[in-house]
Amino acid sequence: MTDRTKIFYPVEADLLLLTENLKQLVPARHPILYAAAEHLFGAEGKGVRPAIVLLVSRTTMPNQDITQRHRKLAEITEMIHTASLVHDDVVDSSEVRRGIPTVHSRFGNRIAVLAGDFLFAQSSWYLASLDNLEVVKLLSEVIMDLAEGEIRQGLNRFDTSLSIEAYLEKSYYKTASLIANSCKAAAVLSEVSPEIAENLYQYGRHLGLAFQVVDDILDFTGSTKTLGKPAGSDLCSGNLTAPVLYALEEKPYLEAMISQEFTQSEDLEKAVAVIKESNGIKRSQELAAYHASSAIDCLASLPPSDSRQALRDLADYVLIRIY
Ligand code: IPE
Ligand code: IPE
Ligand code: MG
Ligand code: MG
Repeated sequence: MTDRTKIFYPVEADLLLLTENLKQLVPARHPILYAAAEHLFGAEGKGVRPAIVLLVSRTTMPNQDITQRHRKLAEITEMIHTASLVHDDVVDSSEVRRGIPTVHSRFGNRIAVLAGDFLFAQSSWYLASLDNLEVVKLLSEVIMDLAEGEIRQGLNRFDTSLSIEAYLEKSYYKTASLIANSCKAAAVLSEVSPEIAENLYQYGRHLGLAFQVVDDILDFTGSTKTLGKPAGSDLCSGNLTAPVLYALEEKPYLEAMISQEFTQSEDLEKAVAVIKESNGIKRSQELAAYHASSAIDCLASLPPSDSRQALRDLADYVLIRIY
């Protein structure tokens, strides 16, 4: 199955409720922060992370309804993700997100940094109110990992000696950690065995890595209009992702082009053409496919259900998504 909304069918009603709740959770006390946060929650993302949390919750509660805590966890996950995007767009100087102007381009960097901080702080507060120390630890680590991922990316700009392993590690911190730890947290709330919780963590880790590799491919192959965010910006800002790293192995002269940091705009176009001519995109697709199929393998120990099927379908969807 390839359509996202069809895959999310087992949690469709849960997601509607979540969207409504999220809009009400934005800080109402401060008009500017309110405007900034509402701006993003109003535009709504794809909802991949809360859908995963809700699907894991339903899969691990086969004979009963999910709890309010599971629902709150799904909201917290989306809140942490949204906060990270507000900061990521400041760091990347991106002008568009979810098809609308970013918080910093609309309200300025100061407000965007504060609004992101506010969302992180607010998610910690909601997290604590779940009253489950293990879950608090899992998600607090995510907030540290997100910062670690941005720092690593910042330190490695234009570094053509970056290895695929280091790139995947950075991608774990930036993207997979949130998905992996929130899958595990949902499983912990369902009181499953440690083995099942670990399998679900691994499911989220592999899925998150596949998701980021595909995002990095889309930065080369997608358009700003379909993506709802600027395409073609990673290489320009020195963020060397899977397609570039593979292309570098095949076409070593790319190294000199990248080291010039694209002071001339023709250099960037030339480098993109070299990457597209190489096997970089194809090998990146294979890397993403490996992680998506590893994610599916991690679901084997769970009882069959519509929700488990949806988690499998999601791993296929990640590979063919176009935005
Ligand atoms: C964007 O995530 C950041 C990445 C990890 C690539 P999404 O593509 O899930 O963003 P939204 O939530 O749908 O806007
Ligand atoms: C993921 O990386 C962003 C976060 C996890 C904060 P990207 O920098 O690739 O995300 P986009 O492409 O801006 O959505
Ligand atoms: Mg970015
Ligand atoms: Mg990206």
